[in-house]
Amino acid sequence: MPYPMGAQMKFEKNILCIGAGYVGGPTMTMIANKCPNYKVTVVDINKDRIDAWNGPNCPIYEPGLDEVVAKTRGKNLFFSTETDRGIREADIIFVSVNTPTKTFGEGAGKAADLQYWEKTARQILANSESDKIIIEKSTLPVRTAEAMERILNANTKGIHFEVLSNPEFLAEGSAMQDLEKPDRVLIGSRETPEGIKARKEVVAIYAHWVPAKNILESNVWSAELSKLTANAFLAQRISSINSISALCEKTEADVDEVAYAIGTDSRIGSRFLKASVGFGGSCFQKDILNLVYICHGYGLHEVAEYWESVVKLNQWQQKRFIKNMLGNMFNTVAGKRIALFGFAFKANTGDTRESPALAITRGLLEEHAEVIITDPKALPHAREDLRDIKSGVSFEPDPYKAAAGAHAIAVMTEWKEYQSLDYERILASMPQPAFIFDGRNILDHRKLFKLGFNVFAIGKAPLKHF
Ligand code: UDX
Ligand code: ADP
Repeated sequence: MPYPMGAQMKFEKNILCIGAGYVGGPTMTMIANKCPNYKVTVVDINKDRIDAWNGPNCPIYEPGLDEVVAKTRGKNLFFSTETDRGIREADIIFVSVNTPTKTFGEGAGKAADLQYWEKTARQILANSESDKIIIEKSTLPVRTAEAMERILNANTKGIHFEVLSNPEFLAEGSAMQDLEKPDRVLIGSRETPEGIKARKEVVAIYAHWVPAKNILESNVWSAELSKLTANAFLAQRISSINSISALCEKTEADVDEVAYAIGTDSRIGSRFLKASVGFGGSCFQKDILNLVYICHGYGLHEVAEYWESVVKLNQWQQKRFIKNMLGNMFNTVAGKRIALFGFAFKANTGDTRESPALAITRGLLEEHAEVIITDPKALPHAREDLRDIKSGVSFEPDPYKAAAGAHAIAVMTEWKEYQSLDYERILASMPQPAFIFDGRNILDHRKLFKLGFNVFAIGKAPLKHF
């Protein structure tokens, strides 16, 4: 895709996004779509990723994304690897690079790894020739903007950088919808005249399509902390209901009935109360651990422990799932074929980051099971995630073939298509007794039981024939 010089085109503003991932790609596509008067360029160090953005299929699967990219790409949306040039031409720079959990040194396993972030700051500094607004899009520890500002404004070129926080709340699988009709857009800046001026410029971008009442303004630290807090609260709801699911299995209460009953209380609300094998995704665990690390840093150990328990419960729920499988399959799965239905961390995405299916696969392999993985979108990532495994795991796009000869099916992802499979046909292809472990509570358990399956769901009494 040709990448025209900003000077040749008549755009009101040049927006650059550094990082063409799950956040940067869809967000900039929406901005370009809604703001034809702005030129939007997305750059990445990963050439393959940029080539894919410029090709017929976007590098990420997101319903509705391909269509909007096709409509805007080459008009006011450009994907490129020319970061230095992009920086020079930009008025506003969104930074959306990865901030994984640190795997080494101080804070390993908890703190955010800020190396990509800092490298980006230095690259912005080296290539800037005019004042710029820099926007944190990646989720970052509270007060990172301050560190960024210190690096940037220590320049001798007389250039002023204003660093803002504009966290992204989109969820994968519904990104385009979330971007088009966000519950809120949050823009945090310093409360100085320069900070407020920059804030208004960013408000003006979103005002192209987001109603004013949904654009929230705050100080920069509140914006940074709100993102971590939102994810922590969402994850906490899932761990809360999952903790209750364990109790339901002991008492014959039904977790879906309990969730429905409590969710009708308007103070609690009904969403994010779906019990499951556990939450996954690139954000929840990472952001909570980040929060935990920050709290310890400020000496708030009780606060840190409170939030860490949300992650611990999630890990326990996944271990419990494997234990349940073992216990109900006569205490051994060694040599048994187990079909995993779904590998993505949730439906409508090909993303497998922190997917519970990964922990379940590894747990089953430790028990010497033979694992067959099927998923409509995530098999390429699944293969990549499990590339260290030499034997005992295979990949099969067709769920019927995956289930054939399997002792058990374990539902890992709530793909709709798994609800309408011909389970009579599937049962006939499996050795008896046949087991279904529904880690997402999406199947018709009574019907499956009547067909002859032994059915184990999350937070429900087991339905077994023996
Ligand atoms: C999340 C936040 O929702 C989003 O606002 C933020 O910007 C990024 O992190 P995402 O990770 O894409 O988005 O997925 P989300 O829909 O939140 O689901 C996370 C995990 O929780 C998935 O594994 C999902 O299956 C699980 N989940 C969700 C449940 O187990 N039960 C629920 O009730 C809801
Ligand atoms: P997210 O889910 O937050 O969008 P991703 O990992 O999907 O995270 O995307 C982050 C992107 O940022 C990756 O494509 C990565 O190659 C890119 N990236 C990281 N560092 C830089 C950098 N210095 N310059 C440009 N792109 C970068």
